[in-house]
Amino acid sequence: MRRAIFPGSFDPVTNGHLDIIQRGCKLFDEIIVAILVNPEKTGFFSLDERSEILTEVLRTIDRGDCKVSVESFAGLLVQYAADRESHAIVRGIRAISDYEYELQMALMNRRLQPRLETVFMMPAEEYSYVSSRLVKEVFHLGAPIDGLVPPLVEERMRKKK
Ligand code: PNS
Repeated sequence: MRRAIFPGSFDPVTNGHLDIIQRGCKLFDEIIVAILVNPEKTGFFSLDERSEILTEVLRTIDRGDCKVSVESFAGLLVQYAADRESHAIVRGIRAISDYEYELQMALMNRRLQPRLETVFMMPAEEYSYVSSRLVKEVFHLGAPIDGLVPPLVEERMRKKK
């Protein structure tokens, strides 16, 4: 039973995140999508909203036999991963610019918890420029975001606007 944690802010979840979860499902039996609780940052969606949206959209994707659940965590990621008896952390890498930040985190996490591996996965090319930050930016400026996020996310963003 191989379990991985896919941590992030998911504010909001994008099609790129879903693509990585589906790819991760080819490698792991279980993936816990873990939303970071960050009391210093108020997001577009609240933690509860993000969790609810993620749970809903995960029902719509093909996951094979892989179990995918949604949780939230505060504090150190490696501690949370250990508490969940997880074998790996999954992170998506879109471009070289992501790699530098991700490598730094992966190496720090390895120093803190040498037995925990970080697995970098590349999303489909069509999502290689998609980020939650840019989705929010173009949405606020009135541009369409269909194809970048699941329809439910777009609907919920419109309601909140
Ligand atoms: O989606 P994001 O915002 O890029 O995700 C960043 C995340 C949640 C993976 C990172 O901020 C994190 O792991 N935070 C938990 C605190 C922690 O363990 N910090 C040390 C990381 S080396």
